[in-house]
Amino acid sequence: MTRVDHCGPDSQADADAWIRWRVAGARFESRKDSRNREVATMDTQSAPVETPESALQGYDQLIGAARQRFATSRGIRGMVSPDTDARTIAAFLLHFSALSVPITEPVEAWIRRAGERCEALGLTEMGRALRGHSKAEAGHHQYHVDDFINLIRFWNAHWTPHVDPDAIRAHGVTAGGERYSQVHEEVIAGPTPYCQFAIEYEIELLPVQYGQRFVDNCVRLLGSEILECMSFATSHIEFDVGHTKFNAHFLGRMIAESPGRLDPLVKAGTAALDAFGEHLAECMMLAESFGSRQ
Ligand SMILES: [Fe+2]
Ligand SMILES: [Fe+2]
Repeated sequence: MTRVDHCGPDSQADADAWIRWRVAGARFESRKDSRNREVATMDTQSAPVETPESALQGYDQLIGAARQRFATSRGIRGMVSPDTDARTIAAFLLHFSALSVPITEPVEAWIRRAGERCEALGLTEMGRALRGHSKAEAGHHQYHVDDFINLIRFWNAHWTPHVDPDAIRAHGVTAGGERYSQVHEEVIAGPTPYCQFAIEYEIELLPVQYGQRFVDNCVRLLGSEILECMSFATSHIEFDVGHTKFNAHFLGRMIAESPGRLDPLVKAGTAALDAFGEHLAECMMLAESFGSRQ
């Protein structure tokens, strides 16, 4: 593209580019907030033309392939499949509970820090909303901790060899879990910390979409007694209906306000879904191997 500078246009194409540049520049200069230049430039790329509803539909369409990939990934397929056997699903619950603690405990801080970065960039409303949401996630790793304790008792009452809790915890953070943490850290440190909304939207949609099917499958295979060992899943089926509405509201609005945000939001949502799908797949593979021990 022809370089446009302060000398003014030489052709019609240059004139159009020059006008766009001047308008963008004027908008930038008139801003009184402390938003940094990178975000401000992105915000002035396109005028708002969409409603929040249509903007969210556009997002949902672009992230569709990642959601489809997640739906067919090994972990979630095993979680909801009628073909999974009782021993494997119980072993999955053990590994999922123990190995999800390290990626659930930091959630409150991830959301709060993303909110603080938004505020530092002048995105005050988004920042405040994220900081508020962070409080709703405080201590949720404790559901996994409690479930793990109850699952050890459940497993040992039904099967051998008995569970060595330390051996399961010793797997540490899964590779998917590492990636999942990295996705958050990159969003927090990068120029588009509001992408935390896309991460939350994708991950909090999962209990809404799959939670009840997963719980029903476990009850069918293991009996209703297993519900005492599934407090993370059962509580999040309820919590995340509200959280998803909240995320959807902000996502639609922020894209409608500045369509340039769509691309980084889809990228962050995709990265979080892929990483979380990998985490679940690893928990399922460990469960299959653990369940096959005699
Ligand atoms: Fe939560
Ligand atoms: Fe939540």
